[in-house]
Amino acid sequence: MLILFIVCVFSVLLILKYVFGGSEPNPFGKDCREPLKEKVYDKKEKNKVLKQGFLAGKVPDNLDAVIIGSGVGGLGLAVLLAKVGKKVLVLEQHDRAGGCCHTFTEKGFEFDVGIHYVGELSEHTPLRCMLDQMTNGQLEWEPLEDAYDHVILGPPENRRSYPIYSGSARFPAELKRRFPGEENAIDEFMRLVKKTEFGAWLLAVLKLCPLPLAKFVIHTGLAKHLSFFFKMAPRSLTEVVNGLTENKELRAVFTYIFGTYGKRPKDASFAMHSILITHYLSGAWYPKGGSSEIAYHMIPIIEKAGGAVLVRAPVNRILFNNKNETCGVSVLKGQEEVHVHAPMVISNAGIFNTYEKLLPKELRAMPDVQKQLSMVKHGEGGLSIFVGLNGTKEELGLKAKNYWIFAENNFDELMDKYMNEGREEASKKIPLLFVGSPSAKDPSWEERSPGKSTLSLVSFAKYSWFEEWKDGKVTNRGDDYKELKQAFIDSALNVVMDVFPKITRDKIEYIDAGTPITNTHYIGAPEGEFYGVDHGMSRFSPEVSAAIRPQTPLKNLYLTGQDVFLCGFTGALLGAITCGSVILNRNLHVDSFLLAMKTKYINKKLKDK
Ligand SMILES: Cc1cc2nc3c(=O)[nH]c(=O)nc-3n(C[C@H](O)[C@H](O)[C@H](O)COP(=O)(O)OP(=O)(O)OC[C@H]3O[C@@H](n4cnc5c(N)ncnc54)[C@H](O)[C@@H]3O)c2cc1C
Ligand SMILES: *[C@@H]1O[C@H](CO)[C@@H](O)[C@H](O)[C@H]1NC(C)=O
Ligand SMILES: *[C@@H]1O[C@H](CO)[C@@H](O)[C@H](O)[C@H]1NC(C)=O
Repeated sequence: MLILFIVCVFSVLLILKYVFGGSEPNPFGKDCREPLKEKVYDKKEKNKVLKQGFLAGKVPDNLDAVIIGSGVGGLGLAVLLAKVGKKVLVLEQHDRAGGCCHTFTEKGFEFDVGIHYVGELSEHTPLRCMLDQMTNGQLEWEPLEDAYDHVILGPPENRRSYPIYSGSARFPAELKRRFPGEENAIDEFMRLVKKTEFGAWLLAVLKLCPLPLAKFVIHTGLAKHLSFFFKMAPRSLTEVVNGLTENKELRAVFTYIFGTYGKRPKDASFAMHSILITHYLSGAWYPKGGSSEIAYHMIPIIEKAGGAVLVRAPVNRILFNNKNETCGVSVLKGQEEVHVHAPMVISNAGIFNTYEKLLPKELRAMPDVQKQLSMVKHGEGGLSIFVGLNGTKEELGLKAKNYWIFAENNFDELMDKYMNEGREEASKKIPLLFVGSPSAKDPSWEERSPGKSTLSLVSFAKYSWFEEWKDGKVTNRGDDYKELKQAFIDSALNVVMDVFPKITRDKIEYIDAGTPITNTHYIGAPEGEFYGVDHGMSRFSPEVSAAIRPQTPLKNLYLTGQDVFLCGFTGALLGAITCGSVILNRNLHVDSFLLAMKTKYINKKLKDK
């Protein structure tokens, strides 16, 4: 009890220190939202911001920091630093900024890469406040329909559909309607989810507090006493859900969202799952104008402080001085290396790329670096299929919602079979498929691409299925590669045309697939992973949670993005907030929370008048 008391006092002091004693100004110090400017949808205009090619002459002088990678983890951090006056250079290997938030256009269809829906964005939630501030109020979020997800289970001749509704009350109430007699299981599931997710505060604290304090909290066993999150972390999703109900359909509906972090239920941590369930409990949103709007509204803030975001800028190594301190990066420009110097380097490229590809051999071999590497694994590879359709959403029956389609309700068996069969077998029958229509979610689409629609189909795929073609040219990897891709496309289309009868082959104007090796090329995912480092149970042990933090074993080198915190748009953004907290030596989680409270209060007063 005494120890508990001491730790609580310690934590409070620590938070107070960050709130009142931060050594740097607060990027969330005042409300920076500006009135909405006129929307720019013209591609050429947007590309002037998103596609600024790297040239040595464009590198600003006297940089405060270089960030490797322009995902939301990189750009978000750059914005936080820019807001307190720092001059930051963001370097992106692809030909446009955004990472998983980038978009591309083929045959007149604009496609998103990695944003289908984001939760917790009701007015004045801390996340909404953060994003409003980080885009100066210019990024708008459009709610999806409610139900936002449909879980579809079973073979073609017997598909069952379960709508998922938002709301702490409605989510369980609708499930109870579909599963009479399962009221207790549903209530208990909700109770466990909420209690577990609530304990995630300690995840943030373990990553931010001094390492010795974190170790103390862990080795005394306090972590599991203080937070239900860490108590549930070593329990698998399958174990918890099977303990709640015998009903196989309900078990499936409780677990379907494992696709958003890519770990089948028996290897997934209930802790991670509880975060995802609560994430969408208040609904789901999509960025108006498509996901390129995110980078488009962040970059000007970085530039205003004297920084820049340059693309076609693959960093091939991080530079160190003779004291083993980071002092800059080397960018490959054709065959030439261009050196960019800065007192601080932050990597958004993920742990594996950073340690295994960008460090010199002798530093990679450092025990502390190897220790961190031994704690992480590559996540599952992903398959994306992009479909451009002739027809409006009304004509094609497309809705602003997602469909998770599974061939059977035992997801552990389904994933086992799918991932362990050879690639030929797998390609013939995709047993799990996410289907969303980005165009139907975006109210600006009709004006931008009248008469057209898009579909995004997503599933998992093993890197090893495609690895043999990895060294080929991205647009021409040979006929056998094309054939394999086509087999996956055909079986995905069979599912789609069966579930959405208005979508027929003659409506398809464009279709192509991105495999794990495509992901390597465009988003720098070393093994084609969708969500960075693996989200299995071991990642959620308090030891790993505390060890993987923005600070690296190397001085002046930091990590941001999804590998530092959690995957997903929000996870990567919180990675940036965590990294920004370390660099600015203040707790930005608390800062943004306080500003959210303040703006809510001000808005309420304005309303009341
Ligand atoms: C198909 C798909 C669907 C998804 N759907 C959703 C969703 O609906 N909702 C949600 O919240 N999340 C979703 N996600 C997850 C989410 O998009 C990611 O978790 C998040 O955006 C990751 O952000 P990040 O900044 O950490 O990394 P990334 O966005 O991956 O950025 C890393 C960047 O680093 C660059 N880079 C790597 N190496 C180098 C180098 N050497 N030099 C220069 N640059 C380099 C890469 O090119 C990349 O741009 C989805 C992801 C995918 C792939
Ligand atoms: C730098 O790191 C290498 C590899 O760990 C080590 O051999 C060397 O002594 C270090 N140099 C300094 C100045 O610390
Ligand atoms: C799209 O469909 C319309 C009618 O439904 C047709 O007139 C038009 O030619 C089609 N466009 C293409 C490119 O197929």
